[in-house]
Amino acid sequence: MVAQVSRLTPAAEVVRLEDEAVGLDGVIVIHSTRLGPGAGGCRFWHYPDIAAATTDAFRLAEGMSYKNAMAGLPFGGAKAVLRRPAGDFDREALFRAFGRAVAGLGGAYVTAEDVGTTVADMHHVAEETRHVAGLASDGQRAGGDPSPWTAQGVFNAMEAGARHAFGSSLKGMTVAVQGTGNVGAELCRRLADAGAELVIADVDPGRRDRLEKILGARVVEPDAIASVEADIFAPCALGGALTPASVAAMKAKLVCGGANNQLASPEVADLLLRRGIAYVPDYVANAGGIVSVTAEYLGENRAHVVARVAQIGPRVAALLEEAASCRLSPALVADRMAERIITGVDRAAA
Ligand code: NAI
Repeated sequence: MVAQVSRLTPAAEVVRLEDEAVGLDGVIVIHSTRLGPGAGGCRFWHYPDIAAATTDAFRLAEGMSYKNAMAGLPFGGAKAVLRRPAGDFDREALFRAFGRAVAGLGGAYVTAEDVGTTVADMHHVAEETRHVAGLASDGQRAGGDPSPWTAQGVFNAMEAGARHAFGSSLKGMTVAVQGTGNVGAELCRRLADAGAELVIADVDPGRRDRLEKILGARVVEPDAIASVEADIFAPCALGGALTPASVAAMKAKLVCGGANNQLASPEVADLLLRRGIAYVPDYVANAGGIVSVTAEYLGENRAHVVARVAQIGPRVAALLEEAASCRLSPALVADRMAERIITGVDRAAA
């Protein structure tokens, strides 16, 4: 049975951010606050114009609503997207201006790192507002760079996915990793430790060559990674890796990675289903980072993060099993579960 992925479409709040003096140019999109404040990172990236940045922010904020609900977190979904200035700029001044904008929302939005932002950036934000996480951690308290937690969650999800798709562990599996940045590199280390073979690609040769040397990974060109001979494809770069063309050419039988918004369009979930490729929905696999960020914001300790990240594997196993038994795409089944939580039907179970 083939079905379209449906999505909740609440009235999102879009806050325009502009401060020419420091090069701040972007948006905060608060997609949903039904479960709590909108939580989601701040992306700092190249966009041709503000319309492109806003479109991306909306999709990412929507994904955060689903991710936070599915992870059982008392937070709604939001995201900030800032356009990276073309020339020189004062990073501290820019992120402090962003921090003042976050402060102006009075806690409706909680920010943290995403692609292009660092722990140091979040410390600049924290000079202006307390509604920020991803700050350096001290001892047993949750905190710090969320990327290792994201990678751990993806690894747990992939283990569960491999058991579902192949009936085995990751030992001896070939995993093609697209993007060896913060999440991709951490994931590669865990996979190498688990005895997996790695094929990697990154548009930045520096990031990929490092791993080639340390982990003995095989390097391929970025446009070849989705169709190499591999058991598992792990998108860990930017969104949209799963297109009709990439799915048609894919040899892997399981897709599980850290990137947000992996499906270029909802219909691609059905193409994966028809090709017999198991898909672990991105926001279910990559929730480890937001689990860390929200625990930090709530003043919890690392043990809470460890326990919640450990739930990702069993959650993926149950999701894939349910999807297989209904012959629906895991993306659709996950969306329905998250929507039931957001609309209150399964609030108690969250
Ligand atoms: P990053 O910026 O450190 O790494 C991304 C890497 O992808 C970079 O090395 C970049 O050169 C590479 N890349 C970009 N386009 C590529 C292409 N077409 N082919 C191959 N490589 C390409 O970012 P990070 O933090 O590792 O995030 C990766 C993905 O995971 C993003 O989609 C992000 O939204 C998502 N994510 C990250 C979380 C985190 O905790 N950092 C949490 C949840 C999701």
